[in-house]
Amino acid sequence: MEKEPIPDRELHRLLQVALVFETIIENRVQHYHENHASEPETQVLKETQEECREHRERLIDLLETLGFCRESHVELAATVSSRYSHCDPTEVEALRDQLASEIAAYIFYSRVLQRLSSTEYGGDADLGEVIDVLEPIKEEEKQGVMEILAIFSTSQSVPASLD
Ligand SMILES: [Fe+2]
Repeated sequence: MEKEPIPDRELHRLLQVALVFETIIENRVQHYHENHASEPETQVLKETQEECREHRERLIDLLETLGFCRESHVELAATVSSRYSHCDPTEVEALRDQLASEIAAYIFYSRVLQRLSSTEYGGDADLGEVIDVLEPIKEEEKQGVMEILAIFSTSQSVPASLD
């Protein structure tokens, strides 16, 4: 059976959602890190912030490679960043929130990759190139989940939802 091509607009939208997602997580974690974190949470949150920034840059590079306007996506990320309003969590809430973000990101990238593996790209670019960018990002989200779970497993303050 032949695979249906994925329309440009769908691929564009999926990558834009990923970009907004990474930008929101980056902003949340930056806020936690600046206001509440302490060791060993500080290190994990710092690494997560850096990882989000890298993922955002990889997504913008990919969008540009696919022929979508780089500048408008840099602006999109800046707009999301400037309008994002923060909550005021405690340290454990920050980690729990980050765990939820990493799980949600992992599920999101998994679903996008499933969608891409069931289709062919209708544009000029190689769909394999998109998968090559998104697959490592998905694996890094999974790694983030495992790192935070490892902290919870040695912490006295395990959130009730993870007992
Ligand atoms: Fe990410």
